[in-house]
Amino acid sequence: MEMMRPRKTNGVGVQVEDTQICVVMVGLPARGKSLIAQKAQRYLAWLSIDAKVFNVGNYRRKETAHPTAEFFDTSNAEGERMRRAAAEAAVNDMIAWFKKGGLIGILDATNSTKERRRWIAEAMDEHGIETLYVESKCDDEDLIMSNILEVKTTSPDYIGQDPEEAAQDFRKRIRNYERVYETIDKDESDLTYLKIMDVGKRVIINRIQDYLQSRVVYYLMNLHIKPRSIWLSRHGESEYNLGGQIGGDADLSPRGHEYAKLLPELVRRSVGDDRPLTVWTSTLKRTIQTARYLPKHYNQLQWKALDELDSGVCDGMTYQEIAEAYPEDFAARDEDKYNYRYRGGESYRDVVIRLEPIIMELERSEDILIVTHQAVLRCIYAYFMKKDQTKSPWLAVPLHTLIKLTPRAYGTIEEYASSGIDAVSTWRGQGSVAHHEKPPVGAEGIIGNGANGENTP
Ligand code: ATP
Ligand code: F6P
Repeated sequence: MEMMRPRKTNGVGVQVEDTQICVVMVGLPARGKSLIAQKAQRYLAWLSIDAKVFNVGNYRRKETAHPTAEFFDTSNAEGERMRRAAAEAAVNDMIAWFKKGGLIGILDATNSTKERRRWIAEAMDEHGIETLYVESKCDDEDLIMSNILEVKTTSPDYIGQDPEEAAQDFRKRIRNYERVYETIDKDESDLTYLKIMDVGKRVIINRIQDYLQSRVVYYLMNLHIKPRSIWLSRHGESEYNLGGQIGGDADLSPRGHEYAKLLPELVRRSVGDDRPLTVWTSTLKRTIQTARYLPKHYNQLQWKALDELDSGVCDGMTYQEIAEAYPEDFAARDEDKYNYRYRGGESYRDVVIRLEPIIMELERSEDILIVTHQAVLRCIYAYFMKKDQTKSPWLAVPLHTLIKLTPRAYGTIEEYASSGIDAVSTWRGQGSVAHHEKPPVGAEGIIGNGANGENTP
């Protein structure tokens, strides 16, 4: 009988095989490959999976910073040589990175010929690294042109050039690639691949072998590029917040109720009247009470996964009481807040793992308003804004503020609407046991103080 190989975890409950994976992007220029690569990297990093993008264009730019379309003509021998050298340099660096323990390397290039894909498979095979090909195929001319205008005219390749001319040159560059481009087909049925056609309208999956591969594939299948926003709000101020107690299932305070009453107007001003909105809350009273005056035609859903970080034996205590009853735990949490797990409760790491289905659903969805809790909001915010997981548990998220996140091709735009209704601060600085400590004015890491602006990875 074949023995099941025990699965390793990356320490957070994410099961990780012994394998390392090279994700090879495939497709003509302006098909969203870089965008897909970067999103996959951000998602994996959020789950504490060591992933890195190797962009061959960046290697090529070291030699040829501003090439014209002719450089990409396959009859241009010098161009061909330089492009091959750039691909080799990226692959070699990736292999060196794998040797140091990297788990998922993403090779971001067109990799548009069978010969090139076979070469990558062989190079990775030699080092026992699996390959997963991800092809984005799209023939919608209008979409390609808008992609070019959206991201290519501002590419480092065209710095200082007229955007019209840059777009024309990029179109010619694509023509040169089209002459040699071979889509993944039945000749390559031995390869493991995901083929995304017309921005996910149709997908083909072939030979996905293990857990980590299927995880990446499932994530990529859920991505869409329809414009949308995600609104985030903490619940209104609660009776527990007033007393500086953590956790629990308290009712809103009078000011919390005021916020709940004002929320529909805040949302209407930000969302508009005619956009259908779905509202997600946790299963705790304070988020449900906060959402209860929102228009009835908004779909509302309660998620257990959106409940506040479980503080275990410390539930209902103040920080002062925790510091007195469990001084070592209190210090350990300050030392490593992301990993510290409350006795009988959760760590931020645990919360991220239970939020994964939420992130997956958010990627599939259009406009959503999430009414949740301080720790959970920090984790969701960290995913969209690519925040360092060691810093995100310290973010200051004010009560009674509506946050709007709008994902764009390369970054997420954030906007805020303060309700103007006062609330206590529930933020706690390292080492402090204060009841209602205010984050220092202007400090980095205060959501909504205007310092964060647009996030560009
Ligand atoms: P290049 O080969 O020049 O690096 P690329 O394929 O990496 O091009 P991106 O820079 O990622 O292209 O293009 C981003 C644009 O593609 C964005 O405007 C984004 O909305 C769009 N896009 C994202 N996903 C897809 C997709 N699956 N199909 C087509 N376009 C997409
Ligand atoms: O104080 C409000 C609250 O949502 C508590 O219920 C929760 O334990 C805490 O914030 C999480 O914040 P921190 O991780 O900074 O203690």
